[in-house]
This record gives sequence, C-alpha cells and structure tokens, in this order.
Amino acid sequence: MNAEKGNCCTERDVMGKIWTIVSGSGGTGKSSIAVGLAQIAERSRVKTLLLDAAGQFRTCDLFLGIQNLVTVDLTDVMVEHVKMDTAIYQVPGFSFLSYACTSLVACVPLEELSSLILALQGKFDLIILDLPTGSKPFSGSLMKQEDRILLVTRPDPFSLRPCESLFQSYRSMPAEILPVVNLEDRTLIRRKLQYDTNTMSLLLDCPVLGPIPRMTDFFTQKANGEGATTLSWKEQRIFRQIYDELA
Ligand SMILES: Nc1ncnc2c1ncn2[C@@H]1O[C@H](COP(=O)(O)OP(=O)(O)O)[C@@H](O)[C@H]1O
Ligand SMILES: [Mg+2]
Repeated sequence: MNAEKGNCCTERDVMGKIWTIVSGSGGTGKSSIAVGLAQIAERSRVKTLLLDAAGQFRTCDLFLGIQNLVTVDLTDVMVEHVKMDTAIYQVPGFSFLSYACTSLVACVPLEELSSLILALQGKFDLIILDLPTGSKPFSGSLMKQEDRILLVTRPDPFSLRPCESLFQSYRSMPAEILPVVNLEDRTLIRRKLQYDTNTMSLLLDCPVLGPIPRMTDFFTQKANGEGATTLSWKEQRIFRQIYDELA
C-alpha cells in the first residue's frame, strides 16, 4: 500500500482501485478471469481482495480451493453485524491475496454495501469485484477514473448483443470500460460463427482486451478442492497482458 508518501498523499493514494468484472450473458468467463487476474496480482505483490458478489452462485472460492473455509459472507457483516475481518479470508498459499463473498440482495441497502466497500478500499490496493451476470457496477462516489470495468464477452452475436447494450448503459460512468473477449475459437471464426478480434473491436467501436482462446486444459487442477487452480505458462502470459493493460 502506497500510504506513506509524506504528508501530501491524497485520498486516492490510500484507497485501493476497483476492477469490476461484468458481462451481459452467463458463462463468458468472469469468475475465471477474476481468479486469473488475482493470481497475477499475487505475482506482482499487490495486496488484493477478490470479492465474489455472486452470493450462493459463487465459484471463485472453488477456483481457489477454499470452498470449505468460507462460512461468513459480507452480507452477514451488514445484516448480522458480524466483524468485517471474519468475512475476509487470506487465501492459503498466497501472501497478498484475500477472498470475500457477498450477495447483492434486496435486504441490504446499497449505501451499506457502499460503505463496506469503502472500508475495504482502505485495506487493499486492489479489489477485483466479480459481479453476477447483467449487474450494474457500483457507481457514485465509489467509482473513480483510475478504476476499470471489464466487460467480458464471447465473440459471437449471442454474447455481443447484451455486451453492446451494457456497454452503452455504462458509458456515463467515470471508470474506463474495457471489453474483454474470451473463449475465442479459431475453428468457429473460420466457419464464420465467431468474430475475429478486429471485427469485435470495430463492432464495439473501441479496442478490446484479449482475446483469450478457448482452451481445453483451461485452469489445470480446476476446482478439485486441492488448493488454488494453477495457471499454465500460456494462461500466465495472457492474464499478465490483460493485467498490465489495466494497471
Ligand atoms: N478461455 C476459456 N477456455 C476454456 N474454458 C473456459 C474459458 N473461460 C472460461 N471457461 C470455462 O467456462 C465455464 C464458465 O466460466 P466462468 O468463469 O464460471 O463464467 P462466468 O463467471 O462468467 O459465469 C467454466 O467452466 C470455465 O472454466
Ligand atoms: Mg461467475
């Protein structure tokens, strides 16, 4: 944390950045990308919180092999007034990575969740927020120019349409919106069932991150309950490139 820069530090010097991961259609790879980027943050020695907001549909804990560890949700902190630290899990085998989960439920007022995230920003340099499909990122005072919104899409018409629609509705937000193309498949591109990267960029009228290919051995040791998924060298290279574009 870059908190000690003499007396001249601004609020943002001590508040972590937020990278929000969203998509318009399900199964585009939000959680996989969140975990991949969290692993690169660990390698970069950046104090990071992976915040999984999918409630009972969460999967990041599975990717990290900590599903048996996670019992307290941040919603319990808000509703039951449990201490915040009990809902933050240091990921075993990692020095800089913590995990927390929450549900975006009606019984929790957004302001309460916002103040909790503000408190978390004081504790971490980076919060990677994995939102459920179709959710709108937190805005208002929580979002700053340095933050990022990763809009994950497959390069096909069925995923692109909801992606375009979310892209338009997020345009007024202060953070940069970066579409990320996942699950690219060269065979499907040849058969004209998927768009190539240039076409995706033209259709969305902005540069896209990735593409991340569809990989048969994606995330080896996936969700087998024996520690975190390990990234192959190819995955490391891809996630590092995306991480560097965001940082
Ligand atoms: N690039 C990829 N290559 C192969 N499988 C992938 C890729 N990206 C995601 N997957 C797989 O697709 C499924 C859905 O991914 P997930 O990250 O859970 O999506 P989401 O969080 O958007 O619902 C998972 O089984 C995941 O391992
Ligand atoms: Mg998910």
